Amino acid sequence: MRNFFLLLPGLLVLQPLQGQTAAELYPLIQNVYQRDIRKLNGYWSYIIDPLETGYYDYRRRPAANGFFKDEAVDNVHAYKEYDFDVSPRMGIPGDWNTQDRDLFYYEGTVWFRHKFHYTPSGKKALLYFAAVNYEAKVYLNGKKIGEHVGGYTPFNFDITDQLTTGENTLIVKVDNKRSADAVPTNNFDWFNYGGITRDVLLVEVPQKFIQTYKFQLRKGTVDVICAQVKLNVKEAGNKITIEIPALKWKKTVETDAEGVAAIEAKTKLTLWSPQNPKLYDIHIYSTTDTIADQIGFKQITTRGRDILLNGHSIFLKGISIHEEAAFRNGRIYSAEEGKILLEWAKELGCNYVRLAHYPHNEQMVREAEKMGLLVWSEIPVYWTIQWENPEVYANALNQLTEMMERDQNRANIIIWSIANETPHGDARDNFLSSLAKTVREKDDSRLISMAMERKDKSSIVLSVNDEMNNYVDVISFNQYVGWYDGTNEKIDRVKWEIDYDKPIIISEFGGGAVYGLHGENADIWTEEYQADLYRRTLKMIEERMPPIAGISPWVLKDFRSSRRLLPQIQDGFNRKGVISDRGERKKVFFVLQEWYKKNSIP
Ligand code: GCU
Repeated sequence: MRNFFLLLPGLLVLQPLQGQTAAELYPLIQNVYQRDIRKLNGYWSYIIDPLETGYYDYRRRPAANGFFKDEAVDNVHAYKEYDFDVSPRMGIPGDWNTQDRDLFYYEGTVWFRHKFHYTPSGKKALLYFAAVNYEAKVYLNGKKIGEHVGGYTPFNFDITDQLTTGENTLIVKVDNKRSADAVPTNNFDWFNYGGITRDVLLVEVPQKFIQTYKFQLRKGTVDVICAQVKLNVKEAGNKITIEIPALKWKKTVETDAEGVAAIEAKTKLTLWSPQNPKLYDIHIYSTTDTIADQIGFKQITTRGRDILLNGHSIFLKGISIHEEAAFRNGRIYSAEEGKILLEWAKELGCNYVRLAHYPHNEQMVREAEKMGLLVWSEIPVYWTIQWENPEVYANALNQLTEMMERDQNRANIIIWSIANETPHGDARDNFLSSLAKTVREKDDSRLISMAMERKDKSSIVLSVNDEMNNYVDVISFNQYVGWYDGTNEKIDRVKWEIDYDKPIIISEFGGGAVYGLHGENADIWTEEYQADLYRRTLKMIEERMPPIAGISPWVLKDFRSSRRLLPQIQDGFNRKGVISDRGERKKVFFVLQEWYKKNSIP
């Protein structure tokens, strides 16, 4: 049973939907890494279970004594056919594909077990997963704690009453099978890394704690801070103090019946920007809890075809990034691995990154914030979603709200993206316009977009006519003239007519090249062809396109994809990276770097 939550207006708080089994997922805790946490990471035992024998009986009914019981039997007096004690182990967090050769292409169920000691502290204990791809069923000491669907957003459970003093056994059933009614579906161009791919944390908080908070500038201002703080209990009269020492800001206000305290005040502050990614230490105190965070303040708006950051027009010098580790080419599982990719983006001269096609890990966003990189953050509503399936909509909405809630305080996130390359149609427009309305209701401080496809006026008069352009703030589209659409010479012949008075971003363009493969500019798959494609495209942007507000070429690094099968060229990798899967900079890297340097538009 999936659990989805309603969202309180303004402050993003996940509340149990009526009628859902709320005993499972607990509202997401904000800024978990600043909490009293114990990482449960390490080497966990695992069992590969393609037929889900550990979950179903021989009639395919959920079994009462599945692997989650982890029964200690000696196979003399009682019978069982699994044994975590003598099973192999793998590193958690981490995808299973790159840790066990038998699991490289595996899509199905793997069971994980981790034992840990616990001593009651009188505090509330939450079990927090930063991400599990794709479906997780979680058990503690043989009892079902809950489950979660969606491979790229965090979730947590209140396990206070399920923990025992001494040894505890945590078991997770992870299933990464693709399916047509999932989000994303069974059809996407990146590698289906399965497993517990991000941190697992035991979080201890006071029984009454600061569950979430949101700081932003009041819409239309650059000097009025609005702060909302919510306790985990619906209780009026709790004093909440908010302190921003650098601004000599210290305000105390009481919670309302919902347990929410809100305050706003005018102040003179330094705004966050790529040139000066200013973050303020923020302290929040209640009578029972305290939490600190580093928060920046910025204003992002649009005016005609301009994107305005803090009132000034900005050109987004970007690059698209998949969350795949440099060199190792597995799902990123540490802040250090994310930092390498972001440093490559900075080396390119970027002030912006498109974190495609799903929410990246929290540390990646926070690292980008410190480095002065603006961010496009996206949910994996990708290609062929089942637009008329209410379960699919609820799933997409849940992933959207989990993404927004986790990162609601990140100054560098300027765009929430609700989709990528989805086919025109009424059902799709209904689905996406509803998501867009949710974003608008829950966060009026950022821009909405989605990566669309072209809808041309002729073979060489290109355009983007999409009903969804009425719902987004920024018109973004992917275009592959010179790759999927003609060869490079076509780039010099096309014209563009885009008839919307909104900012325009080219969210993807590019072509493939094998690092070290050289030839003439006309020779596809060579570094020369790829570099020529970029040179012509950048020239087209400068000379023959309506003014645009930014680009995020596809893609920073060659990445694994099971769609990319051309032997000795792709070998299971999408080769559109400006950097190879081995960290080698292709010629095109320097073409783009030079253009960003020349167009040192702030
Ligand atoms: C599409 C899609 C990407 C894909 C890319 C490609 O635009 O958005 O996910 O990898 O094209 O074909 O390389």
